[in-house]
Amino acid sequence: METARLNEIVESYPTPTGKILGILEQVQREDGYLQKDVLKTLAEKLEVPLSELYSIATFYSFFTLEKLGRHVVTVCMGTACHVRGAPALADTLKALLKVEEDETTQDGKFQLTTADNDFTVTSARCFGACSMAPVLRVDNKIFGYMTPERIPAVLKQFGWEEDTHQNA
Ligand code: FES
Repeated sequence: METARLNEIVESYPTPTGKILGILEQVQREDGYLQKDVLKTLAEKLEVPLSELYSIATFYSFFTLEKLGRHVVTVCMGTACHVRGAPALADTLKALLKVEEDETTQDGKFQLTTADNDFTVTSARCFGACSMAPVLRVDNKIFGYMTPERIPAVLKQFGWEEDTHQNA
């Protein structure tokens, strides 16, 4: 994000220090994520510690510090979904979208983006739709009772075509 645009956003809030959440939301809406450089500049402008902005950005799940693909596919790895096959859904997504697995963290969380930036595959804990487990969310749309076999049809709704995605 250009500094001039960041200034406009900050100035649109009359009392900036009380509006940090709103400013961060606006920045993420325009950039797609919260870039480290932008957070640093913002911390200086708002005269708040950078650590405070990071705390907010990491506390709220709707903020992300990583650039996301145009479509975000989230696999629920909550208990109900996990026991009903969520790991197989995750494996199928990674294979179909050809994303590397080396970013998976020790606690099983992962966030992988295709090289063409079309899709990000990530994990979350419980969408509150356990009765439909296992559950997948693509952008804001929930798909329940998922099976690995149904995934290609779901991805196609979002522009995926077989063999178009390369390794990240
Ligand atoms: S555990 Fe997956 S929706 Fe609740």
